[in-house]
Amino acid sequence: MNSFIKVLLIVGVVVGLIVSLPTILGKKDVVVLSDEMLRDRALSTSMLPIPRDYDGLLRVIDNPDNLMTREKIALGKELFFETRLSKDGTISCASCHKLKEGGDDNIPTAIGHNNQANPSHLNSPTVLNASLAKSQFWDGRAKDVEEQAGGPIQAHFEMNMKPIEIENVLNSDDKYLAKFQKVFEETKITFENVRKAIGAYERTLLTRGDYDRFLEGNNSAISPKAKMGMTLFLTKGCKGCHAGMSVGGQSIQKFPLRSYLSEYMGVIISPTLEIKDSPFPFDNIGGFLGRNDNLRFRVPILRNITKTAPYFHNGSVKELSEAVRIMSKYQTGNEFTPIEISEVVEFLKTLDGELVDY
Ligand code: HEC
Ligand code: HEC
Repeated sequence: MNSFIKVLLIVGVVVGLIVSLPTILGKKDVVVLSDEMLRDRALSTSMLPIPRDYDGLLRVIDNPDNLMTREKIALGKELFFETRLSKDGTISCASCHKLKEGGDDNIPTAIGHNNQANPSHLNSPTVLNASLAKSQFWDGRAKDVEEQAGGPIQAHFEMNMKPIEIENVLNSDDKYLAKFQKVFEETKITFENVRKAIGAYERTLLTRGDYDRFLEGNNSAISPKAKMGMTLFLTKGCKGCHAGMSVGGQSIQKFPLRSYLSEYMGVIISPTLEIKDSPFPFDNIGGFLGRNDNLRFRVPILRNITKTAPYFHNGSVKELSEAVRIMSKYQTGNEFTPIEISEVVEFLKTLDGELVDY
């Protein structure tokens, strides 16, 4: 690197330091909101509680192209746990999306057919509350859970089945045939209706927890520390991306949004050091670069986040506190102090919930 650029970089760092001195020395302003203000702020930006009953569920989540019925949901549930939807008969949706363990598999990357790892080392996202998202997958390439369900069944590294194979397997089972005939009024089972039944079931996989009870008016449902964390979440930019009833899933956003000159300092100290080889503040295992390779990702859903470690698209980060620190620094430009991180983590714990029995 030529020395003129080095001098420029050094000058840049010095100016940066001077400009940020007041923030480094000064105390960060602490916003304190009353319980009512906190709740109003959340509700007015559509951070709403998960419905408690079936009617509420239908109002929030029904799909006009795949109207929900009790029979369709029950059929979808059976298919979600059906290992015959996979080539070797051992893998079901529930193999990678364990409903009692946060709706994912708790390993960095998914393992499917023939013990194959996901080729981009992608981490399994949770299926819990996923139907509330505006798009599905890390790059948002499927529009809803009905469309999404066709993906893993056919992926050679997941369940490895062709639509025609699925239709043959299910049509040869009289029990399934009778159920499909009743639900969809069709003589033969089609792959499209398999996707629809699974999607209808997924729409019921919503969870409620202390956060919902707080939003509904119970001030003691979450601790004072969690309220501090919730205040930070609402006022420091997190909810701009992790929005809506699912606390995420509503948009596709750039990550990382900011970069820092200090991370390129190696170039100045030693010319032999490489410029960062990962565009992320963690290893670029798998090389996935988001939608159209543009570092744009479907914003993850934060409900049940304490149960869905490891974090980020390639599962590189084990600790939730580290995920929060990374987000505050690279997405909001306002790196949280250790105390602020622990408050936000305390808030995120309130997003844990139990499946509602609709
Ligand atoms: C081998 C493990 C594996 C199996 C089996 C599997 N999935 Fe997944 N699932 C994943 C991975 C990995 C992703 C992320 C892939 C991507 O973004 O490209 C994912 C993504 C999803 C998503 C998107 C969630 C979101 O928030 O974007 C849903 C919904 C889902 N799977 C449902 C299902 C259903 C339904 C089945 C069964 C038909 C299934 N999965 C089978 C591993 C698996
Ligand atoms: C500009 C949009 C944006 C903002 C602001 C933002 N996030 Fe994120 N967040 C994302 C995206 C995109 C990802 C996924 C990145 C990836 O995996 O490559 C993510 C991932 C996460 C994860 C890991 C989720 C998982 O399942 O792996 C957590 C936790 C998180 N964010 C919390 C926060 C917190 C707390 C804040 C506020 C300090 C915040 N985010 C601010 C967009 C944002």
